[in-house]
Amino acid sequence: MDLKVYIETYGCQMNVADSQVASAILKAAGCSFTDDLKKADVILVNTCSVRDNAEKRVLGRLDVFRLEKKNRKVIVGVLGCMAQRLKESLLENPAVDFTIGPDSYRSLPAVISFIRDKGGKMTETNLSSLETYADIEPVRTDSNGVSAFISIMRGCNNLCSYCIVPFTRGRERSRDPKSIVAEAEQLAKEGYKEVTLLGQNVDSYNWTDPENTTRKVNFSQLLELVAIACPKMRIRFQTSHPKDIRKGVLYTMAMYPNICPHIHLPVQSGSTRLLQKMNRKYTREDYLQKITDIRRIMPDCAITTDIIAGFCSETEEDHQQTLSLMREVQYDGAFMFQYSQRPNTLAAKRYPDDVPEEEKTRRLNEIIALQNELSLKSNQKCIGQTYQVLVEGPSKRSESQMTGRTPHNRFCVFDAKDAKPGDLVWVKILTCTQATLMGEIVEIPKTLIEKAEETIEEGLNEIKEKIRKTIVRTKKTNDKSKKK
Ligand code: 5AD
Ligand code: SF4
Repeated sequence: MDLKVYIETYGCQMNVADSQVASAILKAAGCSFTDDLKKADVILVNTCSVRDNAEKRVLGRLDVFRLEKKNRKVIVGVLGCMAQRLKESLLENPAVDFTIGPDSYRSLPAVISFIRDKGGKMTETNLSSLETYADIEPVRTDSNGVSAFISIMRGCNNLCSYCIVPFTRGRERSRDPKSIVAEAEQLAKEGYKEVTLLGQNVDSYNWTDPENTTRKVNFSQLLELVAIACPKMRIRFQTSHPKDIRKGVLYTMAMYPNICPHIHLPVQSGSTRLLQKMNRKYTREDYLQKITDIRRIMPDCAITTDIIAGFCSETEEDHQQTLSLMREVQYDGAFMFQYSQRPNTLAAKRYPDDVPEEEKTRRLNEIIALQNELSLKSNQKCIGQTYQVLVEGPSKRSESQMTGRTPHNRFCVFDAKDAKPGDLVWVKILTCTQATLMGEIVEIPKTLIEKAEETIEEGLNEIKEKIRKTIVRTKKTNDKSKKK
């Protein structure tokens, strides 16, 4: 299929990873890619349904694609959560030729060639209880070559009452750990320096060997397998769920220096009454206990969160409890949203969306203002400290400056000197804003341990080379004696 494909991706990092899986499937079918919409034979948009405004944005893009279709022959497909939610009904939009849900990407080449040859419109939205795309090596055309996402599981079984994800992404299933480790090792070989293990709820990762059902791997074991297999890679993961995160994960994080000290632990609300209505299955106190556990095991761990303002029946007192919990935890960062009712969710069926829009906005603004203060405080604590920063690329403002992230996932800007994307450099923090640390590269004398590690590695490489040569020599001798 000699077609040029253009892909736009909206929504979470899982969608970014999914677009890479879709690209791999299309590449194997002979397609190539373009980042110029006007040159594309096929336009794909990978979509998010989590809030109404995410869907509105995609509908706006579809209007643009419709205009493109007026000028020339081009096939437009909608992938992901909106495709799954709206199925055939989205085909009524004149821009759309097909919709394919998150578990049906393998049918992309067949659907596209059918429409190209025979015309018409199609939808493929079966959800699977097995599909993990474990055998597909994602094509990371949009990557910076430094950090990559690895999807470790799909779907979600939690049914938080506000959330549409369990309906658009189906039941939870865990990917074979061997394929996850192999993907991480391959990325390390290609020069990647950081991987983020992705799942809607990574703490419920639970793989059972189909050939021997007594063999199981949980998330802390998986994390350890990846950390050991790729000792030079930084390992991150998300998203953790407060009801499921276990101390085993915290101990594994504390034990391996290449696992980054950062946990994204969405709280959603500080009010136990609302948490129950949200079906989150923990109380304010349970959540705070998890924070205490994290801080005891890893005093230096960064903690970030997600918060929803104005969920059904939220009172001023509930809102104040969210603000007080934020102060108590002192989050290093947060994603904050106004509640958006989603069709068919438990909340849409059971609870009226009764907090007025202006009130939701006011509460959200208060939450954002408080988080800005907390983020600034968190960054100010870094001033004077030196961190190992993974260089990602030049700063948007100046070519002479580089940007990167500290192990705690703090964004950092500094004069480039000779640093290139992918380098690990030590940066001393001089000033900051709430969003950015500013610093300078410094030389850190190597510790005795680092020197010893280097000596061991050199020794190991020498031994490996000797073994390799011996194998080659033995093979040659064997071949000669066979010929004789
Ligand atoms: N309205 C607002 N925010 C939502 N989220 C999920 N569903 C909704 C909704 N209906 C937020 C939650 C979740 C994050 C990914 O999106 O905070 O953690
Ligand atoms: Fe949605 Fe809850 Fe699942 Fe997260 S854990 S994807 S918020 S249902």
